[in-house]
Amino acid sequence: MQICRDLPSLRAATAALRAAGKRLALVPTMGALHEGHLSLVAAGRREADAVAASIFVNPLQFGANEDLARYPRDEEGDLAKLRAAGCDLAWMPPVEAMYPPGSATVIEVAGPSAGWEGDARPGHFRGVATVCCKLFQQTQAEVAAFGEKDWQQLQVVTRMARDLDIPIRILPVETVREADGLALSSRNRFLSAQERATAPVLHRAMTKAAAAIAAGAPVASALGEGLETLRDTGFAPDYLALVEAETLKPLTARRADGPMRLIAAARLGTVRLLDNIPVG
Ligand code: PAJ
Repeated sequence: MQICRDLPSLRAATAALRAAGKRLALVPTMGALHEGHLSLVAAGRREADAVAASIFVNPLQFGANEDLARYPRDEEGDLAKLRAAGCDLAWMPPVEAMYPPGSATVIEVAGPSAGWEGDARPGHFRGVATVCCKLFQQTQAEVAAFGEKDWQQLQVVTRMARDLDIPIRILPVETVREADGLALSSRNRFLSAQERATAPVLHRAMTKAAAAIAAGAPVASALGEGLETLRDTGFAPDYLALVEAETLKPLTARRADGPMRLIAAARLGTVRLLDNIPVG
């Protein structure tokens, strides 16, 4: 696996792959890799001839009150996992290579960035869209794999690529879960043993609400019951909502004209858990 830490060497490496007739898949990450990330690498391998994973903890998507410095980092462990997963190239730019002094351009994706995580983390999706656009340009990949785990992010990036005519296909990859349903996340390591035992209630409550809605129960009562379960088990829910899958617009009743998604964010102690599942 080739490791690139500056733009000229990345461009040379991707140009060599293209010259050899290989289609490139990109897997953007912030490191602290787990099986969820590695499933994106596997999906990239299925869809292209070579896979590049980026590891970049993007300061632009962290708020002033969010601890960028506390974000888990494990460069050696990450590289070993990427090698074992069959990744061809690791792109690990330092912050100065991604945002040289004088950088002045950001990307604002109005529609799907609004609400939910956009409200909870002002400016977050501007940072995500900007860094993803740069990663797409830097690698010139044909495909980029994103986890459904971060549903709103997936929609923001898909919208951005479409709106800016970036010739890349966004590949959604299903959420990887623990056996008890908890979605894998680098934040799970911050759960205490007791919180870890409670955490799968989130997915269980969501599954129950989604089944009730799909079976025709009133949306408000299905969501209300789910929120009650979460509060009763010690969660502080930020939201549990039924939305249009692509626009993230809230739904108060089932729609017949397109896919729906149940999305949730809930705090358990100091850890904020995110999850989402399809409905129907
Ligand atoms: P990060 O949190 O490292 O996630 C990188 C990718 O892994 C994202 O596409 C995310 O949705 C996916 N992922 C995380 N947990 C997953 C799981 N349990 N199952 C499947 N996929 C999972 O998301 C980011 O980084 C950043 O915002 C980034 C897109 C890299 C831009 O900086």
